[in-house]
Amino acid sequence: MKTRIRTLLAGGTSGRECVVTGWVRSVRAAKEVAFVTLNDGSDMAGLQVVAGKDLANFDPVCRLGTGAALRVHGTLVESPAAGQQWELHATIIEIVGEADDAYPLQKKRHTFEYLRTIAHLRPRTNTLGAVFRLRSRLAQAVHRFFAERDFLYAHTPIITASDCEGAGELFRVTTLDAGAPPDFDLDFFGQRTGLTVSGQLEGELLALAFSDIYTFGPTFRAENSNTPRHAAEFWMIEPEMAFADLADDAELAEEFIRYLCRFSLDECADDMAFFDKQIEKGLVERVRQVAEADFVRMDYGEAIERLQRSGTAFSFPVEWGLDLQTEHERYLSEQVVGGPVFILNYPKEIKAFYMRQNSDGRTVAAMDLLVPKVGEIIGGSQREERLDRLTARMTEMGVSQEPLWWYLDSRRWGSCPHAGFGLGFERLVMYLTGMDNIRDVIPFPRTPRHAEF
Ligand code: 4AD
Ligand code: MG
Repeated sequence: MKTRIRTLLAGGTSGRECVVTGWVRSVRAAKEVAFVTLNDGSDMAGLQVVAGKDLANFDPVCRLGTGAALRVHGTLVESPAAGQQWELHATIIEIVGEADDAYPLQKKRHTFEYLRTIAHLRPRTNTLGAVFRLRSRLAQAVHRFFAERDFLYAHTPIITASDCEGAGELFRVTTLDAGAPPDFDLDFFGQRTGLTVSGQLEGELLALAFSDIYTFGPTFRAENSNTPRHAAEFWMIEPEMAFADLADDAELAEEFIRYLCRFSLDECADDMAFFDKQIEKGLVERVRQVAEADFVRMDYGEAIERLQRSGTAFSFPVEWGLDLQTEHERYLSEQVVGGPVFILNYPKEIKAFYMRQNSDGRTVAAMDLLVPKVGEIIGGSQREERLDRLTARMTEMGVSQEPLWWYLDSRRWGSCPHAGFGLGFERLVMYLTGMDNIRDVIPFPRTPRHAEF
């Protein structure tokens, strides 16, 4: 049975005999002894394996290439050398899988652009290893957060007939032959279907039964935007609360983000220290501040005024009624507030049909959470629970009521104020690691013209 390196080092006992497995990061060979750094993905540092000349295959071990897979039997001893507390004195080294000089990850720094072209191998690098480890831990923290608050974890459909956000970014799902003009009557589902852009509409139905629910699943958007923040396939966490308004929604979002910041610092300290050193100086301090500070809340109207007064020449126009672009979002969080900021009550024209209409007749109870570097990380709203207002808005926006009959039914029987939001999981990982490109926080990213691996 193998012992994971992280576990071995955490419970380090001198003289412990064990078996470890992993991949070679480097080999330093001298006449009498060879030092092999072995990494099994459980932590950043890996384990120093010391191979003596008495080893049966000492010469092949000295010639090992970076990337080779090994199984090592040995004894853990305190390391006399600086740089590590423990080392493993090998008694047997099994060379399980060789790697020659053609292995692309030789010991030198590679650009993230290059690493994307070898996405099948990049999980074995320090940076991507740390990112994907943090990503895994964060996913578990998400579930923990909601479990502690008694939210029901719901699976909403991935194949759907409704475009929740109404932005027309649905990837089509069909079994019809490409080419022929589609007759959806003959299609698998007998209607036009696509991959979900959000589990919200179904999430609302479940919240009206279980009070508090959340979804955490894959989401797809065929938006042809080639930016460092957009992927065609990403993961979203969508809580939905019954008997809740916009203020409750923002409160939950704030608590959630701060929880995840604290979690990363407390439980992923080694990887966070690495990001601080290698990816973004000051990251740990920034995350600590977010974990402790209160988030600012600002009305959309005020945000527009602040942007206009800033005297900054933005590439996109700033005017009441227009949507905020990433440059505006970043300016607000980085320059105006210096931390996360909720922008509340957006003009109804730029938001989806389901958002609750405010009494001013111009805005809806929407909120976006903006953070430095990333811009929008959360989008949410209080939902329009009044049937007459909802149908009137759908008519205004040209949203057909017939296919959403079930959604409208939820406003007929037992309707109540309710609210929720969506957190883009990748944007969160970017924010907590300091990584600049969404392509580098997803193991195998899907973006326009990229579906390899
Ligand atoms: O603001 P969005 O479009 O909101 C919704 O989908 C709502 N139905 C959520 C809700 O109220 N339940 O998306 C929510 C978040 C964004 O703030 C962003 O973090 C992320 O999802 N997101 C993307 N992340 C990566 N790539 C994309 N193409 C994304 N589009 C949205
Ligand atoms: Mg949004």
